[in-house]
Amino acid sequence: MRRRTLLKWISSCLGTLCASVVGIPGVSFVLQALRKSNSDGDRVRRVARLKDLPVGKPVAVPILGAREDAWTVHPDEVLGRVWLVRRNPETQERPEVTAQVAAFSATCPHLGCAVQHDAKENRFQCPCHRALFGLDGERVTANKGVQQNPSPRAMDLLDCRLVTDETTQEIWVEVTYQKFEQGLTKRVLKV
Ligand code: FES
Repeated sequence: MRRRTLLKWISSCLGTLCASVVGIPGVSFVLQALRKSNSDGDRVRRVARLKDLPVGKPVAVPILGAREDAWTVHPDEVLGRVWLVRRNPETQERPEVTAQVAAFSATCPHLGCAVQHDAKENRFQCPCHRALFGLDGERVTANKGVQQNPSPRAMDLLDCRLVTDETTQEIWVEVTYQKFEQGLTKRVLKV
């Protein structure tokens, strides 16, 4: 190998090495910052009192939590919204067992717009591309001019339970808020 070629080769290797030393910490810093955002998202939250939920009429609740990036903590930010649907009235005995509540993510599974409640038809509708869902979150097809429901799956059902507050004895709805990938027929958790 000629001396000039060897020197060229060595200087290019040194250049690559220096770029890696400088670049890798920078890239991992940015990735860590991105990973940190929404770090408070995946948590059980108390979102509503059972007595405030009318039977068969969806109620939207915000999901509040701390959002943290590499530089700042933003407490009590709106991380998302959830639709609560109460399915049956409570009875006198053990209402936390008998009253069923379903919680759906308000994020449309198609492309992520906010799903709204159509009070007239009492069903869910996405304003962006007119995906329709029943109160059970299932896709509704063949409706007034909508040839095909653009949503690839039903609304995302979230884990939800009823708990009795130890101090007030009121029954509250608790939800585990999670985000899922859009545009897929199956639910895939966002990481
Ligand atoms: S984003 Fe909801 S229908 Fe397209």
